[in-house]
Amino acid sequence: MKTIQIIDSKNHVGETVTIGAWVANKRSSGKIAFLQLRDGTAYFQGVVVKSEVPEEVFALAKNLNQETSVYVTGEIREDARSKFGYEIGISNIEVIGESHDYPITPKEHGTDFLMDHRHLWLRSTKQHAIMQVRNELIRATYEFFNDRGFIKIDPPILTGSAPEGTTELFATDYFGEQAYLSQTGQLYLEAAAMAFGKVFSFGPTFRAEKSKTRRHLTEFWMMEPEMAFVHQEESLEIQEQYVAFMIEKVLENCDYALSVLDRDRDTLKKYTELPYPRISYDEAVELLQQNGFDDVKWGDDFGSPHETFIANHFDKPVFILNYPKSMSPFYMKPHPTRDDVVIRADLIAPEGYGEIIGGSERAIGYDYLLEQIEKDGLDRADYEWYLDLQKYGAVPHSGFGLGLERTVTWVCGIEHVREASPFPRLLHRIYP
Ligand code: 4AD
Ligand code: MG
Repeated sequence: MKTIQIIDSKNHVGETVTIGAWVANKRSSGKIAFLQLRDGTAYFQGVVVKSEVPEEVFALAKNLNQETSVYVTGEIREDARSKFGYEIGISNIEVIGESHDYPITPKEHGTDFLMDHRHLWLRSTKQHAIMQVRNELIRATYEFFNDRGFIKIDPPILTGSAPEGTTELFATDYFGEQAYLSQTGQLYLEAAAMAFGKVFSFGPTFRAEKSKTRRHLTEFWMMEPEMAFVHQEESLEIQEQYVAFMIEKVLENCDYALSVLDRDRDTLKKYTELPYPRISYDEAVELLQQNGFDDVKWGDDFGSPHETFIANHFDKPVFILNYPKSMSPFYMKPHPTRDDVVIRADLIAPEGYGEIIGGSERAIGYDYLLEQIEKDGLDRADYEWYLDLQKYGAVPHSGFGLGLERTVTWVCGIEHVREASPFPRLLHRIYP
């Protein structure tokens, strides 16, 4: 007898197989029991017909509790009525691990309850679908950048620097010295780009965000490429190609997950059409002012209603270019003819999902950077190594950071970023 995974059912139609699974749900009458089975690869139905199995097998099937683990043996059949397309006609059941009073029942539960049980909530069909999309985005990311000759460089997580501002840092004691959990690997990646040309990192980053919104995590994964000899325009092209590539891969490989999530494929398809529109920060402010956002002034950061309006106006992800210098990090290249803006672009996702990429061309010039570091109140001593890059063959370079969880949230079309992370870290939540 073969042991197979549910996902491989299509290759075993008409065969008798054994599957290790959990009982996600169950419905039964006097004559037939339907078990909703899951094994981590997919969900499908097991059918136990009283007249076709020994009495004790039917009795066992009727009494299985939610989340009991079992080996089921039976014949794989097509099941045109289900999303998955196959089922198993069960002839035998062996219980592996009992389950009693599983807290997440098929009824509705509140978010706090589900978040407290995140370790179990992950077993639901929707969470499973989200993690499959997340995995596909990760896989596509490595494929895209490896195919283009980027080298993966892992920047440190414990650092002494605060490139994105000092207000959102998680501080920790490092043998008597102050250290922080990394907000971004960028400065290290800039050093690596001067060594290896095109590099990327993909790892956890931390922000002590006091904001309780549906877009903010305190720990999230960032994909950060950094490219020597690349100016902003070329970087924008790479960004849009990368985003479109990820969506193509999800459309190609996550059909089942998208159907579980009820995510419209045509909507996603539209986001694979390049180029994405580009507007300047100035134009964005004007657009908002002309459309009833009277409170917006030049120099303000956009809030989420503003970003949503702009993105909806274009129906696609949109780049907003050349933000005010006053609200941008120190390392961004100043505009060549204006001293009030920098060569920065944020990519805003459609449908209200907000900023998914932040990037810029990087400033070069020792004196300029030193001045910015000092202006920002940062300790020069922590940045001497970064300033060194200016002394030994500085070149134009650009890079960006894409937030994985925000991208997952958007591609899945889900409400809140907390469901895009297996064990999300949020303001006031570090359990489980
Ligand atoms: O715009 P950010 O702050 O950019 C940087 O950190 C740059 N140093 C990146 C670079 O150029 N190498 O963050 C980049 C992205 C955002 O666009 C957003 O998608 C995500 O990271 N992000 C968050 N995601 C979830 N929760 C948060 N609190 C986030 N903060 C940023
Ligand atoms: Mg940003």
